[in-house]
Amino acid sequence: MIGHARLLGMVTLVVGMAASWPPEVRGYSSGAPDNPNCNTCHVGGTAPSVSFLSNNAAVTSLAVPRGSTVPLTLRVKSNSSVQESAGFNVTSSNSAVTLGLGAGTGEKIISPGELTQTSRRANNANGIADFTFNITAMAATTCGTVSTLRGQGLSASGNGGVSGARSTLTTLVITVTCP
Ligand code: HEC
Repeated sequence: MIGHARLLGMVTLVVGMAASWPPEVRGYSSGAPDNPNCNTCHVGGTAPSVSFLSNNAAVTSLAVPRGSTVPLTLRVKSNSSVQESAGFNVTSSNSAVTLGLGAGTGEKIISPGELTQTSRRANNANGIADFTFNITAMAATTCGTVSTLRGQGLSASGNGGVSGARSTLTTLVITVTCP
């Protein structure tokens, strides 16, 4: 009887682990969610410099007229010569501001409020990876509505694992204005 109980306990534990294992764990390089943040798993690297760019200028706040779509870039600049790849995740805190694919390649939508990479991106000669996408301020939004974008940029070694990589979080406050 004790043997059976133990066996049942082990089977329950294994089934429980399989059920709670998030599917993303099979391949974060092909898309990483905001939860948990990149540094929960990625270790041992140097944190990159991460910023949002609008019209080639770094921004921490931005006014977007409701009903309009504008391009935005999350720039991930490596601070280590051996971290030559990057990945990213951007979320919008308010559904009044949605995220969509734009001029950039190698990106995918997780939900209207969340974007990530489709595979690790090789940095350019200056150690930079730019992820460009579109943001839309919904037409029906109340004037003055605020949404905070969270941008995580991961600088990685390209070794196909979690080591030698680190991310930095930056935020952008978007205010929906009335044209
Ligand atoms: C729950 C753990 C976990 C979290 C959280 C996580 N990753 Fe990863 N990531 C992995 C694993 C495991 C790998 C290696 C397998 C693979 O390539 O998918 C990996 C690999 C990568 C790679 C390729 C790295 C290389 O050097 O080849 C990129 C790019 C990446 N992740 C981006 C991200 C980003 C961006 C975030 C945060 C928004 C993130 N990951 C969060 C587990 C995680």
